[in-house]
Amino acid sequence: MESLLIEIDHVAIAVHDLDAAIAWYQEVFGASVEHREDVASDGVSEAMLRVADSYIQLLTPTRADSPVAKYLEKRGEGLHHVAYRVADCAQALDAVKASGGQVIDQVPRPGSRGTTVAFVHPKASFGTLIELVQVAS
Ligand code: CO
Repeated sequence: MESLLIEIDHVAIAVHDLDAAIAWYQEVFGASVEHREDVASDGVSEAMLRVADSYIQLLTPTRADSPVAKYLEKRGEGLHHVAYRVADCAQALDAVKASGGQVIDQVPRPGSRGTTVAFVHPKASFGTLIELVQVAS
């Protein structure tokens, strides 16, 4: 079987202070922000810093009941999720469900940058929150 995972789309890091995190990546590594977006449905503000054909996604909550706010409260700053780029988000999500794995999104939904995304529960994937990302073609 050919892998459904095409590329690491992004690695997401939850931070308290988005501007401070961006400045650190800029000053230390010379990395620059390619895209910024507030995703109201997820209650987050994100900054995407390109690394080759992938991104570091710096994430900070925009409201107290956002999942990322709860994450920061419980676990502190750090790795939040790994996003795999896939050709077909629904197909990859179905593969998880067919294996009996627990998913957070039952069907794909709109993500940032015009993508289509679905999250897989860490219980299904050895403790790491996984996002499946289909880039708009
Ligand atoms: Co993400």
